[in-house]
Amino acid sequence: MCVCAATLLCVLALSSVASGSVGLSNSSSFCSESKECLQFDLICRTAEYEVRHYSATRWVSTDAEAYFLGVGAAMAFRRLYHYINGDNKEGVKFEMMAPVLVEVPEEVKMWEPAIYTLSFLLPSAYQEHPPTPTNDKLYFSDMADMDVYVRSYGGWMLSITSRVHAHLLTRALIRADAHFNNTHHYAVGYDSPLKLLNRHNEVWFVVEGEPVCEQ
Ligand SMILES: *[C@@H]1O[C@H](CO)[C@@H](O)[C@H](O)[C@H]1NC(C)=O
Ligand SMILES: *[C@@H]1O[C@H](CO)[C@@H](O)[C@H](O)[C@H]1NC(C)=O
Repeated sequence: MCVCAATLLCVLALSSVASGSVGLSNSSSFCSESKECLQFDLICRTAEYEVRHYSATRWVSTDAEAYFLGVGAAMAFRRLYHYINGDNKEGVKFEMMAPVLVEVPEEVKMWEPAIYTLSFLLPSAYQEHPPTPTNDKLYFSDMADMDVYVRSYGGWMLSITSRVHAHLLTRALIRADAHFNNTHHYAVGYDSPLKLLNRHNEVWFVVEGEPVCEQ
């Protein structure tokens, strides 16, 4: 699937990459609450992070001006939640997929609100033709085919924990001389608030250039 060359660069062999990237969740240990999950190919893993390849996928998104996961973010979450529960022109309902993505700008002061983009993954059946939103604050966004650096952590995805893990991942990437888009990271959640144990969250930075795997 992937080749980690002695040069520390990992090269993805495109031949084996599946085209469908939203699929059954049973192939993943941490994406277990929804029927379908966002799928990926693992390029390499170091002690500090993973490198993954994601194919292009479509999401339903909304923006929140908020202190992270504050009131604004909760309202954005509710808009998306209503959409998947039939608040769309076709009256279609579908289960929430995993993960939920929050795009977080890096250059913000903790005490100032900023624009966060929340996105729900569309199930495979609606990737091409998603139900039409009735709320004009919702829009569709296409996540590009991309490689990401991933750091995983347990517990609850709160503003402060997400920032701490983004910071730790940034430090590991700088040490590894890895290039990434440092204008934003993704806070990635897999579990509903009802799950109390073995919770799984991630922070992602988008790879620039060839992904680097530390030895
Ligand atoms: C996941 O489930 C599908 C259908 O139930 C099955 O065909 C497939 O082999 C399963 N995959 C794994 C990795 O268990
Ligand atoms: C980094 O991400 C931002 C926000 O998505 C984007 O506007 C910018 O073009 C990206 N930078 C590069 C070098 O791709």
